[in-house]
Amino acid sequence: MSLIGFSAASPLDRHHDPLPKVTVPALGEMKRQGKPICALTAYDYATARLVDEAGIDLILVGDSLAMVVLGQENTLAITVDEMLHHTRAVRRAVRRALVVADMPFGSYHGAVGDAVSNAIRFVKEAGAEAVKIEGARVEMVRALTDAEVPVIGHLGLTPQSVHRMGGYRVQARTADAVLQLQADALALADAGAGAIVLEGIPREVAAAITAALPIPTIGIGAGPGCDGQILVFHDLVNLTFAPAAKFVRRYADAAALFRTAVERYREDVEHHAFPSDAESYHLPQSARGQFLATGQKEIANEEADSVVNADAREELNQG
Ligand code: KIV
Repeated sequence: MSLIGFSAASPLDRHHDPLPKVTVPALGEMKRQGKPICALTAYDYATARLVDEAGIDLILVGDSLAMVVLGQENTLAITVDEMLHHTRAVRRAVRRALVVADMPFGSYHGAVGDAVSNAIRFVKEAGAEAVKIEGARVEMVRALTDAEVPVIGHLGLTPQSVHRMGGYRVQARTADAVLQLQADALALADAGAGAIVLEGIPREVAAAITAALPIPTIGIGAGPGCDGQILVFHDLVNLTFAPAAKFVRRYADAAALFRTAVERYREDVEHHAFPSDAESYHLPQSARGQFLATGQKEIANEEADSVVNADAREELNQG
């Protein structure tokens, strides 16, 4: 790891945030004011800092991390402990955005009491400010809300239902399914959900639900008629190693950027072009003569290494 602890210096610099913290009630206020809610996933300290500093309102530590970070086939295997680990990293980075933790498959599918305990772990142990659960689990939303854990619902294409749906398919394509989805969304709002993610549904359906709901909708593959939008960070910057879904817009090609940087580094090492003299520490003048006089190259080198490390920290601490 770099000797420059990039986390250590930052909190001090960031005490003067001009923008107020985003809260669940603030999302409702944004809907009332017609201000689009901008949401994105993040799963680690570095990306969460970038996302927060770019002014994103809501950061979801999505269980999509199972796929885009851990390389799993779907989102089903990720555990509460793994989600907690990533939520903690994101929480450390974020100053302004609302931090929402995705509850993983199995963590809210049994007894309500167990789900509440799991949700409380996200708040207590990882600093989440809300949790997201998939499906029309109205009583679960009510119980979590009663336990002071704000909940974001998630309807339409719910990835944790991949086996029931028979794949990742656009939902609500019949009149009956549209009516059911609308009723589910209203029931979740009534049970206390702070917002609802609408995924993979026709834009007309999402717009109608958005107009009917008192709480914000946040769309992904649900067209422009929602109160906000969310994308997976790795989709946005092309780090998924797979063709993008129709609803994804790639704003950068991080894969190309990273690949080029790593290849250039490898070439430089192979050609002895890295590190240069300017990128190396030097023995202090006072010690140089003594060092050369000893003629004991190996012992002198060991001593030089420990001096180099101590100096490095000192130099860096001095700015
Ligand atoms: O896990 C996830 O990333 C999600 C989406 C809504 C983006 O649930």
